Parts: sequence; C-alpha cells; structure tokens
Amino acid sequence: MLNRTALEALTRRPLPFLASSWPWRGAAYLAASVVPGLAAGATAAAAAGGALVTPALGAVAGLAALALSVPLVARFERLRLRLVDPAPVPEPPDRRRREVWLAVMTVLAFWWIDLLMLAFTIAGPLVLALTPVLQEPVSPLIGAPASLAGVLLLPVAAYTITAWGGARGAMARAMLAPPDSELHEVLRSRARLVDAFEVERRRIERDLHDGAQQRLVSLSMKLGMARLDLPADSETARLVGQAHDEAKRALAELRELIRGVHNQVLTDRGLAAAVRDVAGRSPVPVDVDVALPGRLPAPVEVTAYYVVTEALANVSKHSRAARAAVTGRMEGGTLVVEVRDDGVGGADPERGTGLTGLADRLSVVGGRLSLSSPAGGPTRVRVEIPGS
Ligand SMILES: Nc1ncnc2c1ncn2[C@@H]1O[C@H](COP(=O)(O)OP(=O)(O)OP(=O)(O)O)[C@@H](O)[C@H]1O
Ligand SMILES: [Mg+2]
Repeated sequence: MLNRTALEALTRRPLPFLASSWPWRGAAYLAASVVPGLAAGATAAAAAGGALVTPALGAVAGLAALALSVPLVARFERLRLRLVDPAPVPEPPDRRRREVWLAVMTVLAFWWIDLLMLAFTIAGPLVLALTPVLQEPVSPLIGAPASLAGVLLLPVAAYTITAWGGARGAMARAMLAPPDSELHEVLRSRARLVDAFEVERRRIERDLHDGAQQRLVSLSMKLGMARLDLPADSETARLVGQAHDEAKRALAELRELIRGVHNQVLTDRGLAAAVRDVAGRSPVPVDVDVALPGRLPAPVEVTAYYVVTEALANVSKHSRAARAAVTGRMEGGTLVVEVRDDGVGGADPERGTGLTGLADRLSVVGGRLSLSSPAGGPTRVRVEIPGS
C-alpha cells in the first residue's frame, strides 16, 4: 500500500520501512525545528535586551519579536509539514487564526521538544556504537558489545524519529485544519432531477439499443458459428463455448436493462446478493457486510443498488484506494448503506454528475446522500432510505 504519511509508514514491514525515505524525512522534519528555535531565541533576546532598561520594555520587545516571527514560522510550518504528510492541507475560513496559534505553540513549546527528541534518539546509539573510539582505553570485552548494541539500536532510532515526526505532523495538521469527518449532505434539486433523469434515460436507452446491443448480437452469432466449426472435444471449442455463453448472458442482461428492468441478481435475490455481485467485479478489493432482515420494496433496493454501483465505480476510477467496504443495515425503519474507501479523498459532487445524480435519485424515494471526503481521505458515502 502507498504510504501517505510518516505515521502510516510505520505500519510497513521492517525492512521496507527502514529502506524507505520516511525515517530521513522524519529526521529532517524534526531538525527543521531549528528555525522556530531561532525565532524563540530572537524573542528571548529581545525580551532580555528590553528588560535591561525596564521590565515593561522587556515584555513589549519580546511580544514584538514574537509577533514579527509568527507569520514566517507559520509559513515554514506549512512547508515542512510536507516532509511527513505531503497531502494538501485544507484552508478553512479561520486559517489565519489557526496558523498563528500553531506558530506561537511551535516557538514557545514544540521546537525544543523536537530537537531534544532527535538529539537523544540519535545520540544514544551513536555514543554506544563509538564506545571503543570515544573511551580509550577500553577493553574489547566492553567496547565490542557496546558498539554492537549501538548499531542494533539505530533501527530503533529510525522508528522513534518517524513516530515522533509523524505525530508532530498530525498535530500540525489538526491545528491548521479541523479534521473534516463530518458527513455533508449532497444537495439535490427537483428541477435538475426531472431533466437529468429524462435525458439520461433516453440517452442510455438509445446508446444501448443502437450500439451495445447490436454489437453483442453480432458477437454472439459469430461465436456461435465459430463453435460449430470447431471439433467438439477440443480445448478451443470449450473456450469458445464459454465465450459464447457469456456473450449470451451479457446480451440478456442488456435486454433487461433496456426494458428498464434492473439487475437480474437484484430482482431475483435481493440487495445483499446484488451488492456482493458488483463488489466481486470491482478491481479494488471490497469487504461486503450487508445484513438485512428480508426483501425491501423494489424502489428502495434499486436506489441503494445504484448508489453502491456508482460509489464503487468512483472508488476504482478516482480513489487510488487499496480496499473498500460496503455495509448495509436496517436502522429503525431506515435502510442505511455506507461505502468507504481508504483512498486519497477529495471527492467533490460539483466535479461530476455521478454523485449529484445519486442525490437526485434518492430524493425520489425520500432518502438522502451524505459524503465525507477530506483531502487525504478516507471517503465515506452514506445513504439513508426510508425502507417501508
Ligand atoms: N471515492 C472517491 N475518492 C476520491 N475522489 C472521488 C471519489 N469519488 C468521487 N471522487 C471525485 O469527485 C468527483 C465527482 O464524482 P462524480 O461521481 O460525481 O463524478 P465522476 O465520477 O467524475 O463522473 P461520472 O459523472 O461519470 O460519475 C470525481 O470527479 C472525483 O474527482
Ligand atoms: Mg462517478
């Protein structure tokens, strides 16, 4: 799996983790605390200089130096965050206030913790490793095991540094932007609904009828003919036979669609089976956990099915996720279906027709669609449909 932050990188197996750039990035992040450290030094120097004249002047000079350094430190914090957490940081409306707060906390508190952490973590193993050099004369009985221990501790240091760098990055991100895990309802509109449905229905009908159906008919016929020409017991005949059957099934499904009848599995076996069916065809592995007491009214099942199909199509098209999950439950009298993925996030209904189309469909059955997809992920699509 692609690691997007230093913290996530810690979950890798040891060798790939140690060979990756993450420990170095963590170290660079922590070492960069020298910059806010300089700001802290300047603030302290200004305060001390002023205090030589009067204590009040000391306070004023200290505050002035802090105020001057804060904007620079704030910008620097945003920049260096990329070392341990490269995903873009959202810019909420109270961005300035948040930046100032992060910068003040970094200058007053965080920088020295970072530097101490880095120094101790590296110094411990290093001093041990260099025991034979540093403590002359030292008996090889002590020197050799000490340097061995030092060398063995270096990978541990890589973990400590990455963990602290990652944690500091997570703190900085949380201070710069609120974690956006709230679900927001995707807006729907009646006017758009009427248009969108009608236009889409006609287009699909026409495209399927004129294009895909004709092609499938001809494919199926050609495969049927090829099958007749082949010796009945050959491997090729078996494969062509399978292809022929599949083409016939595809044609049957397409006919169902054109008649406006939805997915056969859905009609015959219900939502849970149909969801497992689409999930099984998704290129991204999907965990399905749909447990429903029985069949639901057809419009509810169809709508939920469309949501899952579109959400999973989005997962494979846009999310770069390693895994997705679909859950479905009845809560009270309401069907609640959620599709989650661990991908890059940043889904935006304004940029396509899929999600808004779903919101439109849902409004017809009195349901609603909510979306949570902060930059950096994860993405959650949730629908609630009154079930009975
Ligand atoms: N699971 C996801 N992870 C990341 N980004 C997503 C995800 N789902 C959607 N997006 C983003 O949100 C946008 C809007 O999605 P939407 O489904 O409305 O449109 P689309 O998939 O681009 O086009 P279509 O109209 O064919 O569905 C997408 O273009 C994509 O950038
Ligand atoms: Mg889409």
